[in-house]
Amino acid sequence: MNKEKTCQPKVFVKTFGCQMNMRDSEHVAGILIDNGFRLSGTMDDADVILFNSCSVRKHAEERLFGNIACLKGLKKKRPGLVIALMGCTAQAYEGKAMDRSSLIDIVCGPGNETDLPRLIKDVLKKRCHIIAVDKFNKKRPELFPKYREHKFKALVSISEGCDNFCSYCIVPYLRGRERSRHARDIIREVKGLAGRGFKEVLLLGQNVNSYKAECGKDFIKLLEDVNKIKGIERIRFMTSHPKDAHKELFRAMRDLDKVCEHLHLPLQSGSDRILKLMNRRYTSGKYLNLAEEYKRIVPGGSLTTDIIAGFPSETDSDFKKTCVIMKDVGFDSSYTFKYSPRERTKASELADDVPDDVKASRLKSLSELQCGISEERNRRLTDKVVEVLVEGVSKKDGEILTGRTGTNKPAVFKGSRSLVGRSVDVEIESVTAYALRGRIVR
Ligand code: SAH
Ligand code: SF4
Ligand code: F3S
Repeated sequence: MNKEKTCQPKVFVKTFGCQMNMRDSEHVAGILIDNGFRLSGTMDDADVILFNSCSVRKHAEERLFGNIACLKGLKKKRPGLVIALMGCTAQAYEGKAMDRSSLIDIVCGPGNETDLPRLIKDVLKKRCHIIAVDKFNKKRPELFPKYREHKFKALVSISEGCDNFCSYCIVPYLRGRERSRHARDIIREVKGLAGRGFKEVLLLGQNVNSYKAECGKDFIKLLEDVNKIKGIERIRFMTSHPKDAHKELFRAMRDLDKVCEHLHLPLQSGSDRILKLMNRRYTSGKYLNLAEEYKRIVPGGSLTTDIIAGFPSETDSDFKKTCVIMKDVGFDSSYTFKYSPRERTKASELADDVPDDVKASRLKSLSELQCGISEERNRRLTDKVVEVLVEGVSKKDGEILTGRTGTNKPAVFKGSRSLVGRSVDVEIESVTAYALRGRIVR
């Protein structure tokens, strides 16, 4: 028994990118465990190092290849070490990944990931190099992730790929056309999670609002069905596209008791000219109306967004429009990015003419602006009681618990570690732009 255990190759998985990638890493970890591999918490004793990669911006790719380059010494010391690349950069680079880094042994696209155990075993045995990227755009087999990073909150994919072709975005080229999963498979997966004590699910898709099951069910119907599952306490979803989000969605968020009152609605820019160039298919006016409708229908709901600074031809006046709408909407938080040209996308045909220092200074202005807005939004919660799902214990102080509100705000408060995984009521005593601090009242 022991002997058999020591023969199990150890795999260290490092994930870059979005929640979709985190879900895929869990999925692959489960498949590897089923096929006789063990997971390792460190690179040092791993037989296989598996990078799940992101190509959404150049910076993400540079971090990835930088991480791989750091393994030169380890690979020299242990020539048997297998370095594998999966995810979006694997699909983007295919064999060229090996030209960029000769340390890579396997390149495996998102569609081929169920083959990874076999590919790794082949490389371990034959010391060869393998490129497997041919199952791009295919519907993946219905295998539920068996390994989960967390014990009570889970990532559940509802659709893959994207048909929107925002002009700056590489995702449709790497993840293919939108494919919705069968509603019955999603429900079965969530029921299974509830049976294992999971409390929260995050339903994932590049554009959840265009979810369409083969039986005709749309996203709202799916939310209604998930809401009925006993044991699940919180349902989150991302991402919504402003061109497809509507009142019915907001009403469902209000009426379905488990659906969290948090909406992530990427704005990208406040300038109609830039939104058009981005092929976003809404105007700043339509976005503003949508945000107002959301706030009216889901009072107390939070709203977060993504913004790109320095898209080709963005002038100071375009940028000011973004700042104005940010203030008008009053986002609870925002993710802000410097525009990064991506090969194959429509926008990459435009001159990347906003200098890097201008992009950086716009990003800084956005982050200062957001900081003030976030603090003001959080301050409204002072003296209020909010429900928090306890997620863990602070690394700095074992008596401090951390968790999230339904509105997805981080909260810290004193309490016993036995509360991890349970919902508690917390009275908010003080706030910063980034977190709430309070005390448990129940
Ligand atoms: N489907 C999701 C996620 C897309 S990627 C959505 O539509 O929101 C997440 C964010 O990365 C995007 O919202 C956008 O703000 C940013 N992004 C995508 N491509 C980019 C690029 N080329 N340069 C800079 N930011 C980019
Ligand atoms: Fe990219 Fe746009 Fe699709 Fe989001 S909706 S993944 S930004 S193409
Ligand atoms: Fe996600 Fe990055 Fe791919 S954002 S879909 S991992 S390009």
